[in-house]
Amino acid sequence: MSRPIHLTIFDCKISIVRSIQKSQTKAQGAKPGRRKAVGARFVLLRPAGYPLKSIFQEHPVVSDPKLFELYAQEQWYGEALKPGCYLFDRRLYPDFAFQVVKVHPRHSVVGTETTIKVEQKAEPKNKMKFDVSFDDVIGQETAKRKVKIVEKFLQDPEKFGRWAPRNILFYGVSGTGKTMIAKALSAEAGVPMLAVKSTSLIGEFVGEGARQIHNLYDKAEEMAPCIIFIDELDAIALDRRYQDLRGDVSEIVNSLLTEMDGISNRLGVCTIAATNQIEVLDASVRSRFEEEIEFKLPNLEERLKLLEKNAATLPLELENVSLREIARQTEGFSGRDLVEKVLKAALHHAIMEESNITQRHLEETIPKARKEYRQPPKEMFS
Ligand SMILES: Nc1ncnc2c1ncn2[C@@H]1O[C@H](COP(=O)(O)OP(=O)(O)OP(=O)(O)O)[C@@H](O)[C@H]1O
Ligand SMILES: [Mg+2]
Repeated sequence: MSRPIHLTIFDCKISIVRSIQKSQTKAQGAKPGRRKAVGARFVLLRPAGYPLKSIFQEHPVVSDPKLFELYAQEQWYGEALKPGCYLFDRRLYPDFAFQVVKVHPRHSVVGTETTIKVEQKAEPKNKMKFDVSFDDVIGQETAKRKVKIVEKFLQDPEKFGRWAPRNILFYGVSGTGKTMIAKALSAEAGVPMLAVKSTSLIGEFVGEGARQIHNLYDKAEEMAPCIIFIDELDAIALDRRYQDLRGDVSEIVNSLLTEMDGISNRLGVCTIAATNQIEVLDASVRSRFEEEIEFKLPNLEERLKLLEKNAATLPLELENVSLREIARQTEGFSGRDLVEKVLKAALHHAIMEESNITQRHLEETIPKARKEYRQPPKEMFS
């Protein structure tokens, strides 16, 4: 009675080894091994990433080495090992590759007695630390008030339960502090931020974009409490009328909607999205945001504060400069314009002239910056 069962198991093992030898021959140019498979005593693996680019997925972390060893022995049983070759995970992280760093004896296979270790990875990539605080953000008081609620939530997600802030939309002129506030929130709440540009979520193949979005939220759930920051939301969440231009975009929008609805109830994850073009957003996406926060251009006092704060960090002296006068002349400039187009440009002129920064250096930058930013290219409307 027990014989057929024994045979079945034996056959199964042999067929695994055979199929592995076949695929290794194809993939890595190894000659089909004729010698008898030898069980490795020891193998050291290094997480090597996915064969296809993924923007946010870092290495899966081994939580329990002993458990991982069993998991690995089982799925790679009979797999041929030699330094430099790859083993692909087929279960929890399909297609995640591990590279064999060391194996003893050389040219052996994974057996039930093989000790399998994974190299410790360096600092996790996604745990970005931002050096910016709410006090650094000038103006944008509504946004600051709102994100302070999110900060409280991130510090104690369970307390909020179903009342948790989930989806917040920042919209408004470019360079007014949207990304800056998201970074400040991450820094002050002491939680990681997964920042993605929505254009990078559009994959090359149908289905890829949707998968990227679910992966992004899976990742966030793992790291929770955390913030997902989706920049340039308009690039994927276009109004239905424009979605037809790219067939796969509507499928991305659908997966985004699923995640934003919180069907899988991902505790401790807050999505902040940003756009400069709220008017082209898809209505169904837009309705998922419980709050839309507008970012406005700075007023005179705010421009002055922005100039003063940033000028204090310039590496050259300011000589007889009236920053109030510069603030007066720069109506319609964003924070970014003031920093990049006025202060930085003036600094560079002064360096070239080997002098300190003067009122002239600052004022000369204004007409140029205004011309670059306030006038759309002529051909746009012709
Ligand atoms: N409110 C502000 N307070 C202080 N600095 C600001 C403010 N707004 C903009 N800046 C300066 O401009 C830079 C760019 O701002 P930020 O990247 O946050 O703009 P944004 O609104 O995200 O723009 P975009 O829509 O183009 O992504 C900041 O790094 C900062 O130096
Ligand atoms: Mg931004």
